[in-house]
Amino acid sequence: MTTTMNPVSVSPAVPAEVSVHLRVKRYNPEADTRPHWQDFTVQALPSDTVLNVLHKVKWTQDGTLSFRRSCAHGVCGSDAMVINGENKLGCINLISTVGTDLTIEPIRGLPVIKDLIVDMEPFFAQYRSVLPYLITDDDPGYKERLQSQEERERFDDTTKCILCACCTTSCPVYWANGSYVGPAAIVNAHRFIFDSRDQAASERLDILNQKSGVWRCRTSFNCTEACPRGISVTKAVEEVKRAILYDRV
Ligand code: SF4
Ligand code: SF4
Ligand code: FES
Repeated sequence: MTTTMNPVSVSPAVPAEVSVHLRVKRYNPEADTRPHWQDFTVQALPSDTVLNVLHKVKWTQDGTLSFRRSCAHGVCGSDAMVINGENKLGCINLISTVGTDLTIEPIRGLPVIKDLIVDMEPFFAQYRSVLPYLITDDDPGYKERLQSQEERERFDDTTKCILCACCTTSCPVYWANGSYVGPAAIVNAHRFIFDSRDQAASERLDILNQKSGVWRCRTSFNCTEACPRGISVTKAVEEVKRAILYDRV
């Protein structure tokens, strides 16, 4: 006699949802005289991001909750926020990492437009002030501007910036004095100052040698810890300081 065994079907384990409690700093300039906290609870998977959770709140509980986002993959730099006291991108931080009790605030040091949306214009004005583009008087000719691997390596780290402002808005000097150009602008100046093809390093160093420039930095490393791209921000600031002091580019 032959026996036929039923194939055992093994269904993949479905991860359990967890309750996520959010405390969000809200501010609507058309209705509020000052910011206030609002609590929400949503169900989410441990693999959901903080941005996913904010979307759940917006789509199912309160459509007025306002925040910026675009790529949702850590590339566009638009969803910097303060999560449990630290500057982070909402889209690359998982609930399994940040936990189920979240306090979410707008990044500090820039004017709040609404809820988690800040006015980035002062930040971008400081970025523009350091001439963050290739400047050269040479005839472009018909060939590439050649560069050795070592020359390219010199500024590789600072090419990774996505202008999220996590560094600048974690800097205590910037909080105290918004005229400080800030670490993000210095990182983007560094990217061109140490580029062998560029010819405007001394112009940028003069800009960063002013009262609002690199000398305001107190080397507290907040900026390096906050950078979601892993850029050695404080090291870049120090290299620019040394380039000013020793004329070494
Ligand atoms: S190292 Fe300098 S730029 Fe960075 S957070 Fe500290 S004071 Fe600001
Ligand atoms: S240096 Fe890092 S933290 Fe600062 S703006 Fe660029 S990517 Fe963001
Ligand atoms: S949404 Fe683009 S970096 Fe987070």
